[in-house]
Amino acid sequence: MSSENQNENLGKNLGSRRSRHQGRSHIRNRPFVVATFAMTADGKVTTKNFGPVDFTSREDKLHLFRQRALADAVLLGHTSLERDNVRLGVPAELQELRIKRGQSRSPLRVIVSNKGRIDDRLKIFQSDISPIIIFSTKRMPPKNQEGAREVDLAAMLKTLRNQYKVSTLACEGGPTLFRSLLEQGLVDQLNLTIAPYMFGGAKAPTLTGLSKKFLPASVHCSLIEMRTVADECFLTYRIKHRRRRRSSTRSPRND
Ligand SMILES: NC(=O)c1ccc[n+]([C@@H]2O[C@H](COP(=O)([O-])OP(=O)(O)OC[C@H]3O[C@@H](n4cnc5c(N)ncnc54)[C@H](OP(=O)(O)O)[C@@H]3O)[C@@H](O)[C@H]2O)c1
Repeated sequence: MSSENQNENLGKNLGSRRSRHQGRSHIRNRPFVVATFAMTADGKVTTKNFGPVDFTSREDKLHLFRQRALADAVLLGHTSLERDNVRLGVPAELQELRIKRGQSRSPLRVIVSNKGRIDDRLKIFQSDISPIIIFSTKRMPPKNQEGAREVDLAAMLKTLRNQYKVSTLACEGGPTLFRSLLEQGLVDQLNLTIAPYMFGGAKAPTLTGLSKKFLPASVHCSLIEMRTVADECFLTYRIKHRRRRRSSTRSPRND
């Protein structure tokens, strides 16, 4: 989904932010997290070489822009940023709609990287459309660095909510980051485009990456919208969150 030049028909299906994100009452102290992905009919989100996503239609690219434009911030994993080399901007027409809704012209751009070695020649750093926030273990105070191998995603979301006033976060992947968020119950909505292709290949990641492990528990979804355009299907799922028990002796399982 690297094309950033499409600007027709962008206001379609935007709806009000309130109506699109009802049912937030389970969220405390973090943004509502909406993930947007495209996958083939056999569940692949990229090829084995991790090439940029170019197997979807113009309509799907517009769909991605619309979702991005609804959010206060857009989140991307370091690998996807490197591979797709995107600016994470929003077309002019959608910028105007954002202003009318009382939002900033473009969403904040958030990158996560455990290693923190990010190439400053990437396109994202050549555009100053909105601030860029990088979460990395290297940015932690030295006393917290020891043993911290991964960015604490729950803490990251809390910071985005409390310090940057982000109430809706658009996660654009990739699958490794999405899986980490999913495992921690930090995804609220999944927008999934099914594209009319099949790639096969054990080395081509699915929506939840290449890990052979099961998720700690099955994630249940509710289908809240389905739209077809030509050969593509646009699905919107609300993620059902498990109620946390105060004391539980059950171990995680796949049910
Ligand atoms: N079809 C689609 O809709 C779609 C969407 C997005 C991406 N993609 C494709 O997916 C591929 C890349 O996906 P990917 O799964 O390899 O990478 P990714 O999820 O984009 O990025 C993973 C990286 O994020 C950083 N990270 C920091 N904290 C993390 C945490 N707590 N959990 C997980 N990651 C964390 C790490 O960066 P460091 O290595 O810097 O430490 C990690 O290596 C690309 O080919 C891209 O085109 C497809």
